[in-house]
Amino acid sequence: MYRRLDDLNVSGERVLVRVDFNVPIKDGEVKDDTRIRAALPTLRALLERGATLVLTSHLGRPKGGPDDKYRLGPVARRLGELLGREVRYTPTPGPASTEQQEFVAAAPPGSVTLIENSRFDPREEANDPALARVLASYASLYVDDAFGAAHRAHATTEGVARLLPNAAGYLMDAELSALAKLVERPARPFVVVLGGAKVSDKLGIITRLLDLADTLVVGGAMAYTFVAARGGSVGKSLVEPELYHTARRILDDARERGVHVLLPLDSLCARAIADGAGASVHPSAAIPDDLMGLDIGPAARQEFVAALQGAGTVFWNGPLGVFETPPFDGGTMAVGAALAALPAYTVVGGGDSIAALNAAGLLGRVSHVSTGGGASREYLEGRVLPGVAALDPAAS
Ligand code: 3PG
Repeated sequence: MYRRLDDLNVSGERVLVRVDFNVPIKDGEVKDDTRIRAALPTLRALLERGATLVLTSHLGRPKGGPDDKYRLGPVARRLGELLGREVRYTPTPGPASTEQQEFVAAAPPGSVTLIENSRFDPREEANDPALARVLASYASLYVDDAFGAAHRAHATTEGVARLLPNAAGYLMDAELSALAKLVERPARPFVVVLGGAKVSDKLGIITRLLDLADTLVVGGAMAYTFVAARGGSVGKSLVEPELYHTARRILDDARERGVHVLLPLDSLCARAIADGAGASVHPSAAIPDDLMGLDIGPAARQEFVAALQGAGTVFWNGPLGVFETPPFDGGTMAVGAALAALPAYTVVGGGDSIAALNAAGLLGRVSHVSTGGGASREYLEGRVLPGVAALDPAAS
């Protein structure tokens, strides 16, 4: 088990904090600061206790070198506004460059410094010990609050954790505790709602969920692969024919284990996403050849909402239709609203489901919103998250 932030004596110490500030940026402005806000409790606690902070994060997927598009300047500005204090930042060629090292060395006690995008250095993703050693030289302690990057074995998430006394930040700890409730004796019935485009993205999690869930509700384009695998006609709907065999096996396994799988009875269909005005409802297994399913239909909506009633635990990942484009947002919004109204333990993960709930003003009504899409999925698949394993005091 990892150490917690409150177990570290940070007074007068320099602390390297790994945060996940991988946020959308447009025209030099942070467009969604959810992830920055989520790290504030950890940063505030460290500052109140007299620490000097050196923060490290990746942003986007630059190709292993400096790229102005992915500089952390806008993030430093937004963080400064939220913290109500100066956040030191200067553009440098990389997180371990000479310029960066000099800038960190000049940090006054009690200050906050954000170092440049960790992925400007190709050694980050290679988890190169030489980069980890430079990062470790910036501080005497390491705190990992980057749950969203915990599934990556990189120098800032894994390598450096093994070189410094360390602890999990409040966000990391809260995320892991919230997800643990889903896998360790969840209140029953446990209903899982999965959506999104591809079955292939969700195969690992579906297989694991057959051991955990009582009901699996499947919407989004991925549902059509299941419907087609059972012999339904799905028109031009998005399918992955190479997965028909796997989809049939999943449905058979579910039946054997007594897991109730709900596929959409009907769908809202159109010739194209842009043809919302011409949309019509059809049974999901009898979609005309020239149409594609773009949202669950009214009967499916009713059945999915009914399946949520009485649930003890709900996990939702992925939209049930093309929710960015009305009228194909109706199913996602209806199921999101039903989920938010439940007295159950409800967890939502994945950017699209969060955006849908946010648009409906319902984000505050779920028990836990995960800041990590890939990380929460890998956790639920039962995989070890390298960023968390490296925090284990027994392993360091
Ligand atoms: C995320 O956005 O899920 C995390 O920040 C991880 O980003 P990555 O998929 O580029 O590693």
